[in-house]
Amino acid sequence: MKVLVLNGPNLNMLGRREPGIYGRATLDQIEEKVLELAGRLGAEVVFFQSNHEGDLVDRIHGADGTFDAVILNPGAFAHYSIAIRDAVASVSVPVVEVHISNVHAREDFRRRLVIAPVTAGVITGLGMDGYLLGLRAVVELVRKRAGE
Ligand code: DQA
Repeated sequence: MKVLVLNGPNLNMLGRREPGIYGRATLDQIEEKVLELAGRLGAEVVFFQSNHEGDLVDRIHGADGTFDAVILNPGAFAHYSIAIRDAVASVSVPVVEVHISNVHAREDFRRRLVIAPVTAGVITGLGMDGYLLGLRAVVELVRKRAGE
């Protein structure tokens, strides 16, 4: 089971960025926790972060056929990137969208999630645990689809 964990713009700033909203954990620390859980679940994980839309589009395309699932925190792209939505819609690999903060409890513009309708599901507002729950969700999803 191979899972790609993709993080979009400004998520490289976690730990320093608005800690009242996003917490104090850095992206490295989050990735360490995901790695730890992946080991227990028997999954292999690969991480990638980019501040650039096209890089994320390329990684989503590249995941098709090479990964069993994708966990995606699109950052602000969640609210307006039709290119990322179309990339997710164009692949058969399941994508679970994760947001650290509760996007429904913040500014109105964050309530619009343009990628979400083409994902397998969305986890929002559970802090860094969202990535761990996302990993559990995709492992379960892939095993169910494989009839295990
Ligand atoms: C975020 C929520 C987005 O609205 C914001 O632009 C981010 C982070 C989250 O993880 O809560 O960059 O995706």
